[in-house]
Amino acid sequence: MMNRLGLVAVVLWLVSAIGLGVLFVHGRTEKAPDGRTAVLMSGPEREMVFSEMRGLLVAVRDITAALAEGDTAKVAKIARSMGMGEAHDKAPDLLLKLPLDFKRLAMGLHGGFDQMADAAAKGENPAQLNRRLIEQLDRCTTCHSGFRIDVAQ
Ligand code: HEC
Repeated sequence: MMNRLGLVAVVLWLVSAIGLGVLFVHGRTEKAPDGRTAVLMSGPEREMVFSEMRGLLVAVRDITAALAEGDTAKVAKIARSMGMGEAHDKAPDLLLKLPLDFKRLAMGLHGGFDQMADAAAKGENPAQLNRRLIEQLDRCTTCHSGFRIDVAQ
């Protein structure tokens, strides 16, 4: 009897572990009519992500301005504020809805800002830092062409 219960427990555990694994890779998504992958989230979650996105646009705008002034200390400061330290997600539920490729791109972006901050602190010149900024912008455009966000309860 105990053995059978034990087996049921193991099977249930396996099913939920596999379920979580699938969720971790695929997130909560569906194919959108425009060919992109739609990540499905609640209205407030979408607002949170969008507000972070608008913050990213302000940051790359400010980095561009600092580069034009040759102010690499300012580049380092702005880049750091967009680094991994900022990536700690306040919403673990939301993290489960994001597909793995999306999370990879997002982490690559935050990590790239940390590398830019480190490089600026080590004395890279504005042209070198600008090349890093272009790589960062490539991450923005790659993600935007592959994913969109739709509201679903
Ligand atoms: C990991 C994926 C990902 C990365 C990386 C990413 N974005 Fe986004 N962003 C999205 C998605 C998805 C949307 C929603 C697009 C849609 O639904 O059509 C979005 C929307 C936006 C919006 C619109 C916000 C609004 O209020 O309507 C802006 C602005 C934006 N992103 C800027 C950026 C910038 C700048 C970067 C790079 C520095 C960036 N994003 C990097 C996924 C990403």
